[in-house]
Amino acid sequence: MIPMKTHLGILMLTLLSLKNVYPKNQQEAPLTINLPRVEYFQNPEGIDVVRPRFSWELIGEGRNRSQKAYQIIVASTAQKLENTTGDIWDSGRVSTQETNQIEYAGMPLKSNTKYYWKVRVWDEKDQESEWSESSYWSMGLLKFSNWQGLFIGHDVGYSTADKYDSLYLPPARYVRKSFTLSKKVKKATAYATALGLYELRLNGNKVREDYFLPGWTDYDKRLYYQTYDITSSLQLGENVVGAIIADGWYAGYIGYALFIYFDKVREFYGTNPAFMGQIHLEYEDGSTEIIASDVTWTVNEGPTREADIIMGETYDARLEHSGWDTPNYDDSDWNPPKLYTYPNGKLQAHPGTLVQEREELKPVEVTEPEPGTYVFNLGKNIAGIAELKVEGPAGTKVRLRFGEILRSDGNIQTDNLRKARATDTYILKGEGIEVWKPKFTYHGFQYVEVTGYPGVPTADAITGIVLSSIDTDASTFDSANKMNNTLFENIKTTQSANFFEVPTDCPQRDERLGWTGDAHTYVRSATYNSDVAAFITKFLVDLDDAQRWYGAYPNFAPFPFSRVNQYSPAWMDAGVIIPYNMYKVYNDKRILEYMYDGMEKFMQFQEDASTDYLRPGGGNNWGDWLSVNEETSHDFIASSFYGYDANLMAEMAEVLGKSDDAVKYRQLFQDIRKAFAKRYITESGQTTEDTQTTYALALYFDLFPDNLAHKGAARLAEKIKNNGFKFATGFLGTKHVMLALSKYGHNDVAYKIYQQTEYPSWGYSVENGATSIWERWNSYTKSDAKNSDLNAKMNSFSHYSFGSVAQWMFQFALGIDSEDSGYRNILIKPAVSKEMEFMEGSYKSINGTIASAWKWKGNRLEMDVEIPANTKAKIYIPTSDPSRIKEGNTSLMKTSEVEVLASNETETIVLVGSGKYSFTIKM
Ligand code: BGC
Repeated sequence: MIPMKTHLGILMLTLLSLKNVYPKNQQEAPLTINLPRVEYFQNPEGIDVVRPRFSWELIGEGRNRSQKAYQIIVASTAQKLENTTGDIWDSGRVSTQETNQIEYAGMPLKSNTKYYWKVRVWDEKDQESEWSESSYWSMGLLKFSNWQGLFIGHDVGYSTADKYDSLYLPPARYVRKSFTLSKKVKKATAYATALGLYELRLNGNKVREDYFLPGWTDYDKRLYYQTYDITSSLQLGENVVGAIIADGWYAGYIGYALFIYFDKVREFYGTNPAFMGQIHLEYEDGSTEIIASDVTWTVNEGPTREADIIMGETYDARLEHSGWDTPNYDDSDWNPPKLYTYPNGKLQAHPGTLVQEREELKPVEVTEPEPGTYVFNLGKNIAGIAELKVEGPAGTKVRLRFGEILRSDGNIQTDNLRKARATDTYILKGEGIEVWKPKFTYHGFQYVEVTGYPGVPTADAITGIVLSSIDTDASTFDSANKMNNTLFENIKTTQSANFFEVPTDCPQRDERLGWTGDAHTYVRSATYNSDVAAFITKFLVDLDDAQRWYGAYPNFAPFPFSRVNQYSPAWMDAGVIIPYNMYKVYNDKRILEYMYDGMEKFMQFQEDASTDYLRPGGGNNWGDWLSVNEETSHDFIASSFYGYDANLMAEMAEVLGKSDDAVKYRQLFQDIRKAFAKRYITESGQTTEDTQTTYALALYFDLFPDNLAHKGAARLAEKIKNNGFKFATGFLGTKHVMLALSKYGHNDVAYKIYQQTEYPSWGYSVENGATSIWERWNSYTKSDAKNSDLNAKMNSFSHYSFGSVAQWMFQFALGIDSEDSGYRNILIKPAVSKEMEFMEGSYKSINGTIASAWKWKGNRLEMDVEIPANTKAKIYIPTSDPSRIKEGNTSLMKTSEVEVLASNETETIVLVGSGKYSFTIKM
């Protein structure tokens, strides 16, 4: 055995000698291909996009690595792919740098068919890469006529009780079908959906790990289905397929309907949940068979007595039908199903990412504020469920309630849940250790209150399960300020809690709606923390479906409450701002095409509502929602967003090759800009309303006349200084203050407000123990745990809107941005300031990981940058004098690997190819 030290010594020597053998400009190894994906997914099952798009990332050592060409092969069998026989599509060698949004152009794709694919590339020196790992995708059911299943359910009656005085929470329904396989199956695929929610079961197990299927849509427009490869779960002889179905968004309580006494409080889309599915069997002998939901299935109630997304779940384990979803079960006392009809609309594959378990949390503390009432603290404020572990006599009722914060007496605070009952109940069957978690509900919480527990629970009685549609793993961030680092964690926690089938405003109270204002404010931040391309694609379909017939985008999507609160300036603009960001971040032009007609209609709606290019407030107008001490007029907000929309429309029209439209919208933007300046901006460069938000919006949206913009920015900086480096802004103004300050070079002010800890600021929440982003600047203080002087009913502790500073942190503070779309031509332009000692972070873009770090060492600034293969970056180095800059040990003037593009009075701009670069700057 070689001692560790010697081992390291040998390694060092080897590295040193390698360095000599392979001097710097030696030919590097060919590129390698990472993350081959189709429609943003690795190996997706059951997509229904007929011209799917491919993408991959490239990894290459050294510098200036790029792709010269690619070749994609699509085959009908794994064997053919192995032999590189592209019988479905062989793109041939395509000379291009593109690695994403590459459209399939082979033979027409067929329903219920699996396709195998791989890609290889040639690098800048024409070296050929290895083929990517063998990948696949399968097509779902492309035609309505492919469906044979009937919508089946179980009639449990309906409520006759007063809808406001008592909750109606019907039991979940169970459906099952036993079938026998007498010959060997080559391939088996299940397709399933429900009006309501379903969990698919096969031979005793849940099929795949997703929750809240088939997802939420405005069901009269479309209903999604899922595809499952179940080949390996079937057996010769008897098999049992089953589903548990519940009301979900289709028939259950939604949002604040009960809270504000709508004429309807539940059953917005239909009254009874129903399941529909079918299994396609392909036998080894070539024959096929379809087992579809129909009148031969049987149905029943079971242990899940209540199952509502907002109200919670009740499970009576004594009522379990043991073995109901496995062979050898006698279902003679089950009933034939009731048939239901499908609403008018399309049946499609879910295009987004699905809710799954993302993290498990062990309690950090268990307290007993009252005898028999136990409170489990999970350490952070999440969305999800609690798993209960319990042993006791049959019939014992354990109740779980959920809270985001504690009252001063140590009990959970539930006032802010409003009408969300958020209570789960488990009734024991009394057979040893019982472990249970709900299937059809979720809560926003940090604390779980347990009552009725038999004996004293140990800490492992409760496990927190984080549910979310996304992983927040695309970004890393660190800085010299610990508070800001905690803020970053809190932002990710809150994004996870609210990227839940749709981007919700909050996960705890009776709301949980896809509020559009919140979503567009946060969308760019969201992209830094997570790959949200598929998630947002799905939400844009929701938004397009929910567009009002007169052109406005609604306050939230999906939009079940058709008679109320239809639209609002600065919320409805999500219909333009979010697609634009999808293009900018993921280079996704297809989503622009999809949204374009609706966006045009929306622009027309705005034009009709405006006079002399100024768009008045109107609709449901919340202004700069939750601002403090300053009011910005609704008219100002409406016109500024109208201008911003016009500008984005011009760029999107251009990208889609609609040059006439581009000219039209550019002109519209100029007209709005002129009218806006005349109405709202004085000759001395102040806004007529002189609030922080007015400057932030007008500056960031380019609505200031060019000659006055710097004056406006200086006034914004001055106002913030006069306000003690604190905000007076709400949902709309806050992030734009940060973006506008940095856009106009007031970085020192931006860092002061960013690091502020006095109310109102982000630091204030962190110092008060926040583990998430609050709805209000003053949601809570340690000394006011009862929240008595606040609007307790409207006080969420998990609202991502104020977390939209993540955009500034990545786009400005670290300076990671895309000059074009999709980060092929990257900008690294960090907002360096003496107010911060160091900052570092990274972002997994669609082209690979981009990293940026900067650090002060006395009067020297160090900048480290990492640029992925096949991209270029313009790096902005904050000195006017290039001779003060070194890259590695070499002066910038002497190196050939960094091209100096320009210098001005504040910065030197250099161009680099892929690779790692370390700059030292004498300041
Ligand atoms: C939501 C917000 C939303 C707002 C509109 C609230 O109830 O929670 O986040 O944007 O309504 O003002």
